[in-house]
Amino acid sequence: MKNLPFLIILSFLSLSTLLRAQPIELPEPDKSGGMPLMQALSERSSSREFSSKELTNQQLSNLCWAAWGYNRKDSKKRTAPSSMNKQEMELYVVLKDGVYLYNAENHRLDLIKEGDLRSYCGNQDFVAKAPVNFVYVANMKKADVKEPEEITPEHIATSHANTGFIAQNTYLACASEGLECVVRAWIDKEAFEKVLNLSPLHKVILAHTIGYAK
Ligand SMILES: Cc1cc2nc3c(=O)[nH]c(=O)nc-3n(C[C@H](O)[C@H](O)[C@H](O)COP(=O)(O)O)c2cc1C
Repeated sequence: MKNLPFLIILSFLSLSTLLRAQPIELPEPDKSGGMPLMQALSERSSSREFSSKELTNQQLSNLCWAAWGYNRKDSKKRTAPSSMNKQEMELYVVLKDGVYLYNAENHRLDLIKEGDLRSYCGNQDFVAKAPVNFVYVANMKKADVKEPEEITPEHIATSHANTGFIAQNTYLACASEGLECVVRAWIDKEAFEKVLNLSPLHKVILAHTIGYAK
């Protein structure tokens, strides 16, 4: 009984951790709205000045789905192509409160690690201040690689090509949402892999900073 207050505090702490560890359930993406394609292409551009204004969950939903969501759920096929349909790319969504993995099957963001890790998304000063960074990571296990030594330059090149399609989807979705963005190779890939404790079969390919104009 002496330990009762301690146990009560402990259970509150566990409960709050549990509550915070919830995934972000994304609303249905708006697949019928948005900007006409030719207008989005006209407005696609890179920007490096962002305000800290947060995105809504609807915007996150639209962006994740446009980038790498299922557009043919029955056959588990996506908005972007991938070589031999390996779909080895994973979309990490880095927000102020934590790092999430986009779960296309359930259209939600699964929490991978709590805390503000935006500074791990790149070395340019705007990266850690913008509200959202996407990090495109190849999970070579999904490309039938079993050991890190089996990863060839061809695997990496293929994942870069696959990422290019996803990143362009993100660019067009940002244009449609009135958001600014820039795709980036300048990220300390090993530091990001390490802080998230990713397996040696995970390889960061590119990052993409997203937000409102400053
Ligand atoms: C593969 C790739 C890597 C890039 N890496 C960076 C980067 O690390 N930092 C950055 O500020 N811009 C980066 N960019 C953005 C380019 O600088 C930008 O696309 C280019 O200047 C043309 O501008 P635009 O996108 O507005 O047409 C990258 C673009 C690509 C395609």
